[in-house]
Amino acid sequence: MKAAYIERFGGPEVLQYGDLPDPTAGPGEVVIDVFAASVNAADWKFRNGEYARHGQIKFPQIPGRDFSGVVSAVGSGADLKSGDAVFGVIAAGKEGTYAEKIAVNAAIVAKKPEALSHVNAAALALTGLTAINALDDTLKLKRGETILIQGGAGGVAGFAIQFAKHIGARVITTTSAANRDYVRELGADEVIDYNAQDFTKVVSGCDAVFDTVGGDVAKKSFAVLKPGGRAAFIASGAEAPKPDRNDVTALRPPVPRSRAAMERVAQLYTAGAIRPPEIKLYALSQAAEAHRMSQSRHFRGKLVFQIR
Ligand SMILES: NC(=O)c1ccc[n+]([C@@H]2O[C@H](COP(=O)([O-])OP(=O)(O)OC[C@H]3O[C@@H](n4cnc5c(N)ncnc54)[C@H](OP(=O)(O)O)[C@@H]3O)[C@@H](O)[C@H]2O)c1
Repeated sequence: MKAAYIERFGGPEVLQYGDLPDPTAGPGEVVIDVFAASVNAADWKFRNGEYARHGQIKFPQIPGRDFSGVVSAVGSGADLKSGDAVFGVIAAGKEGTYAEKIAVNAAIVAKKPEALSHVNAAALALTGLTAINALDDTLKLKRGETILIQGGAGGVAGFAIQFAKHIGARVITTTSAANRDYVRELGADEVIDYNAQDFTKVVSGCDAVFDTVGGDVAKKSFAVLKPGGRAAFIASGAEAPKPDRNDVTALRPPVPRSRAAMERVAQLYTAGAIRPPEIKLYALSQAAEAHRMSQSRHFRGKLVFQIR
């Protein structure tokens, strides 16, 4: 099969495109012919070696976490059949979707709604899983609450804005001026241009914060919470930053994989609660270019490999 892969950790230039052996389906697994896979920020952190534990990585390694495709082989005990159109996110701690084929545990894969294209399904898979886990399972966001979503034009945040509105919350988000209209169209009630305004000066009394930016933005986010408020962080590593006040809660969403979680993403799409983000398409052979764009941290929506 064709794949984009690395033989060592490093910058975007270490990404190669070429032939690697086809995977086979182990017990409980299916092989999926991948039609689309999206670029997530985790992919270039992996490529850089940020997740490497010394001595445990064997090269070549194929990056990539989410996919949409069609089942082409079924391992013993797997409850899907050849020809099923499916989408999902591979198991935590694994990579490998920048390829024409992947082997995945069938229990974490969901059927793709017919009306959802493979490209859109790949764009919504990890972003949807993460946003739902953060807002609902972790922050327990409720109708009538106010949430500040940091990084509104990004992949996860774009899903989160729509999902928060679906829950019935009021959404404040941060973005650069170029993406103001985009986040408004996603449903944001109030938009802060982070280059023109310090969000800590103009936002206060929030019930919740969802930070997808990290660094100082994450640390400063506690300031906008009302007493008893909660904040969830996905761009600050494995642990949430420590609050600088003792009347708020800092949370790190665990983002567990499951078929049920992917089915929630599918249902939200089918119900019209979520529409796909703006998408820029790449071929797998352009993986280095796609990573340069993702790593710039300034684009909107999702970057997706159209593989078939
Ligand atoms: N399971 C997990 O824990 C999990 C899952 C998914 C993602 N993540 C992490 O979550 C983070 C977000 O991922 P993503 O894929 O959604 O990101 P992304 O799509 O790469 O985010 C890019 C966006 O961030 C915005 N941005 C950059 N700096 C900003 C700032 N200072 N304030 C507000 N917006 C800013 C940019 O908008 P402008 O161009 O307007 O600046 C751009 O639209 C990453 O660190 C990723 O690793 C974790």
